[in-house]
Amino acid sequence: MKDYKEYNYYRELIESHIMDFIPEIEPNSKTLYDSISYSLKNGGKRLRPAMLLAACELSGGDVNQAIPYACAIEYIHTYSLIHDDLPSMDDDDIRRGAPTNHVVFGEAVAVLAGDGLLTSAFEAMNKDMLIYFDNPELLKRRIRASYEISKGAGCKGMVAGQIADIEAENKSASKELIDYIHLNKTAMLMVAAVKAGAYLGGADRALVSNLEAYGENIGMAFQIADDIQDAAADGHARSNSSGSDSERGIPTYPKLYGMDESRKRFTALIDNARRIIAPYYDNAEFFIEMADMVVESAN
Ligand code: IPE
Ligand code: IPE
Ligand code: MG
Ligand code: MG
Ligand code: MG
Repeated sequence: MKDYKEYNYYRELIESHIMDFIPEIEPNSKTLYDSISYSLKNGGKRLRPAMLLAACELSGGDVNQAIPYACAIEYIHTYSLIHDDLPSMDDDDIRRGAPTNHVVFGEAVAVLAGDGLLTSAFEAMNKDMLIYFDNPELLKRRIRASYEISKGAGCKGMVAGQIADIEAENKSASKELIDYIHLNKTAMLMVAAVKAGAYLGGADRALVSNLEAYGENIGMAFQIADDIQDAAADGHARSNSSGSDSERGIPTYPKLYGMDESRKRFTALIDNARRIIAPYYDNAEFFIEMADMVVESAN
């Protein structure tokens, strides 16, 4: 793997703050804390919070002020994975090479760990809001960031994609539907990450819309890469699923388009992402690295 300098810098920053907004252990709710820590500390790549921090810096902001939002988006992402793996959803036993949350803690605890992570995200984003009350500009940026993250995670974003994905299982999804699924279940959280970061950093309209377009393209490419990997792993040992998407009738790009066409579409999306970010070259190193990382993950 290449040395992704900018990415590693953001990842380490996030690692050192990831538990900041998870409420202290109380004896009566310790299982909840254990279950949340298990999934939060279990080796995620931290891509979405890194995107948020990098977008904030690219926009001229201070990353330290963006940390709560970076944590919030990682909490939401982690909750989405815990719920995604549940027996009633994708029914996966392994994630990141380790037993999934419900396998270790049971389904009821896993559902509550997801609930706890989602609500902790809102706690994190709102905790210091009043400090900015006398600075309307900074307050406005935080309200915008918080709204973007709420929207991307919710019924017009990730959750919408997840329901469409679940309902499309074992049916033949149309090309329009699979784009809807991929855009919402995966790309929207990435779009939310870069837009929130852009708002926090005080980006102008052009930068916000370029980052949004980057997020959409990289997010779609990311999910196609995930589908490609899953299809390529059929018959081999798999690292993050107990069964393949195709065994479970989950709609994927390779199923609908075949492998060659899926790769072509993937490459076109990556090219778009690179083209959008190219004009910011010197300040957009992270986003160039991320495109390389996603390409590496698809091979
Ligand atoms: C996995 O996302 C879920 C998809 C949207 C395909 P990541 O690959 O970013 O998850 P972690 O957190 O790094 O394991
Ligand atoms: C995950 O999609 C999307 C979300 C959790 C929102 P997948 O179901 O394809 O992700 P993996 O393959 O389990 O990581
Ligand atoms: Mg799923
Ligand atoms: Mg899944
Ligand atoms: Mg998948």
